[in-house]
Amino acid sequence: MKVCILTGGGDAPGLNAVIRGFTKRACQLGLEAYGSEDGFEGLLDPAKELVRLDDGAVRGILHQGGSILGCSNKSNPFAMAVPGQKQTRDASADVVAKIRRYGLDALVMVGGDGTMHYARRFMALGVPCIGVPKTIDNDLRGTDQTFGFETAVNTATWAIDTLHSTAEAHERVMILEVMGRYAGWIALASGLAGGADVVLVPEIPYEPERVVAKIKERSGSGRPFTIIVVAEGAAPKGGTVSEIEAEARPGQLKRLGGAGERLARELQGKVEHEIRVTVLGHLQRGGTPSSFDRVLGMRMGIHAAEMAARRAYGRLVVLEGTTIRSIPLADVGEGPRLVDPSGQLCGAARAVGVELGSEMPPGAYDSLLPPAHG
Ligand code: F6P
Repeated sequence: MKVCILTGGGDAPGLNAVIRGFTKRACQLGLEAYGSEDGFEGLLDPAKELVRLDDGAVRGILHQGGSILGCSNKSNPFAMAVPGQKQTRDASADVVAKIRRYGLDALVMVGGDGTMHYARRFMALGVPCIGVPKTIDNDLRGTDQTFGFETAVNTATWAIDTLHSTAEAHERVMILEVMGRYAGWIALASGLAGGADVVLVPEIPYEPERVVAKIKERSGSGRPFTIIVVAEGAAPKGGTVSEIEAEARPGQLKRLGGAGERLARELQGKVEHEIRVTVLGHLQRGGTPSSFDRVLGMRMGIHAAEMAARRAYGRLVVLEGTTIRSIPLADVGEGPRLVDPSGQLCGAARAVGVELGSEMPPGAYDSLLPPAHG
């Protein structure tokens, strides 16, 4: 059997652990393993050879960030950008032709929401696919956690820890903008880990006045500095997500950004403190994967190879509790998996006094609080 793995969309720490786990297990099971370079580009370009993967090819990569196969979020095989033009073209037939030319039995697609959407479409075209969920945003349905998330949270937590001392020294309001697109997992997890005073997530439209009140409350109780973590997709009540691009490039998602600067403008003049904004950006995606992400990625890669050998196609590898299993791709559902404002994480934030920017409906840990508690 011949099976090809590709890493679709942007990179996430732990991708190499997936490739290594997949390759080693595939070799043990007697499968011929291949890799497509730069996501779908290796399958779209007829002149590009697939990479033969064996024990030697994956030696020494476990601790490395990025992907030895490269990544690309420019290649949507169903809507490829045509150079110099606004419209796109469906190039899925080119991919299928290349799969046939190589005699591939299956594709293992490591990617996010978009990649899993393509996996379902390729299944419908008769290409056997296995999905492995990947994103630092942790917003994929079906799995309890994606690899890459913990490393991104560790980086964001480091940034909050680092901002604390300078915030305190200058008695400033420090705003840290973190990634996550339309989900607040990175903001909430790092905000909790770093002891942030305010965490603003896309799932809870915020009222700037509540942030102002929190800053003043802290000043009034002898803590004249405030740490705010804002997710790039967070927006004020009645406002929209702050985008860098007015229009998405063909076949791609719009880039988000500017949420931190917008919040700074909303606070300006209403608090006596100086305000500074840090945008963490792609530091969250790069670097050495955490040990958790290495082990999670490796286990998912191994599972994908097992599934290929058993011809268990049309399924997504997931983490459920502490167990790796798989679910049908068709059951995964579209759209991001969001933070539950009434769930335990938001409940934990409120339990330790973190301002989430809005009066909240009663949720986890609120049962013993008086009804007026926001
Ligand atoms: O989905 C992962 C992610 O890092 C998002 O958090 C962020 O909005 C986006 O990708 C950035 O994409 P790019 O690498 O294209 O700038």
